[in-house]
Amino acid sequence: MMQGNAPPIHNWSLATDPDAAICPFQAAAKLHDGPDIFFLPGEAHVRAAGLGGNWVVTRYALQEEILLDPVRFSSHLSIGFSRLVGDSWPLVPLELDPPEHGLYRKVLMPWFSPGKARELSAEIRRLAVTLIDGFRDRGSVDFITGFAQPFPVTVFLLMMGLPPDRMATFIAWEDDLLRGADMPVRAAAAAQIKAFLLDLIAQRRRAPGDDIVSYLIAYELDGAPIPDDRLLGLCFMLFAGGLDTVTSVLGFIFRELAMRPALQAALRADPGIVPKAADEFIRAFGVVNTFRYATCDMDFHGVAIAKGDLIQLPLGLASRDGRMYADPHRIDFGRATKRSLSFSTGPHTCAGMHLARTEIRIALEEWIARVPEWHISDVGQITTATESVWALHHLPLAWAQP
Ligand code: HEM
Repeated sequence: MMQGNAPPIHNWSLATDPDAAICPFQAAAKLHDGPDIFFLPGEAHVRAAGLGGNWVVTRYALQEEILLDPVRFSSHLSIGFSRLVGDSWPLVPLELDPPEHGLYRKVLMPWFSPGKARELSAEIRRLAVTLIDGFRDRGSVDFITGFAQPFPVTVFLLMMGLPPDRMATFIAWEDDLLRGADMPVRAAAAAQIKAFLLDLIAQRRRAPGDDIVSYLIAYELDGAPIPDDRLLGLCFMLFAGGLDTVTSVLGFIFRELAMRPALQAALRADPGIVPKAADEFIRAFGVVNTFRYATCDMDFHGVAIAKGDLIQLPLGLASRDGRMYADPHRIDFGRATKRSLSFSTGPHTCAGMHLARTEIRIALEEWIARVPEWHISDVGQITTATESVWALHHLPLAWAQP
């Protein structure tokens, strides 16, 4: 932090805000009553990179400006998973800046194009149907553990060529990595994931398959294989990006639908609006908190930011910014403003967004087609997670049995 002018300082913590237990998005949006950017001191963010505190940017326009400017705002080691295990390899491509970033983004694209998402959609639909058929006649399910976790995680396992029996282990590692109670728990999870991925890479070198890891091993960049640390960074990125985000967004979407039967009725009346509805839900539920480092001293909208300062962008604040969206907390399938930052913007725009959208649309379509109106059966069991990716731990849903 630069010395000289007094920065706005605010000890913001969703963990201690009772409103966040009900809705982290509405709780966080209270920040819109304060400065557009403030300094969060100390250890509020228990992450290797942020022990000294960080800036928090609350407005859509400012977050967008930062995300579009990788020259002044670097994402190099901005998440910092490798630091947890004493390493310095970046998540690839998220923690690489241009121009190297572009090289690896290109490597991934064949697996994440709109065409690839379409190609996978029959399998994704089969999976959604199988999961729903497994609990529909019971008339209830914990949506998170019964659907929102196994659905995207199984798609991820398919892409990685891994057997479904590893699912529970991966979910536990990912949860500890993102939300572990303290640093040793997070570090232990990072170490387990790293060891698993190194072992997987070694196995696939010996016996390649038609999975994404084998593809990355065989890929040649300017006639040479991808270096080992970049390969690990790519696999770690897929693990971190592929396991938790869709689960988190689905949790908030299905809770909203449970609380607002009129929204369910609108989807049932016209399933053709599902793509629009999915985009509006994604707009409203920007679950990711992301970070950048300042690469130079600067005056950023009247705030003195110093080279090396860490800047936090809770994208859920952009989701609910009244300067960007009229009545931002309202879910409106006909909303005129389509833009959102929930998948970020600029060079690091989510590579998995076509896959994620496909999964969310199919989940909505198959639930609407197969499950009668659902409601929350026990509000007391819902708990929210507000560290890192915002999420629900449990969501007990029930409906009239057929
Ligand atoms: C609804 C679900 C998802 C959301 C909300 C989401 C959100 C995001 C966000 C906000 C970023 C950029 C962060 C930044 O700019 O610092 C990102 C990047 C990324 N995501 Fe996603 N994501 C989702 C699903 C997925 C899935 C399913 C995958 C793949 C398995 C994936 C793979 C990636 C990758 C590879 C990047 C890095 C892109 C780059 O640096 O060029 N994401 N995601």
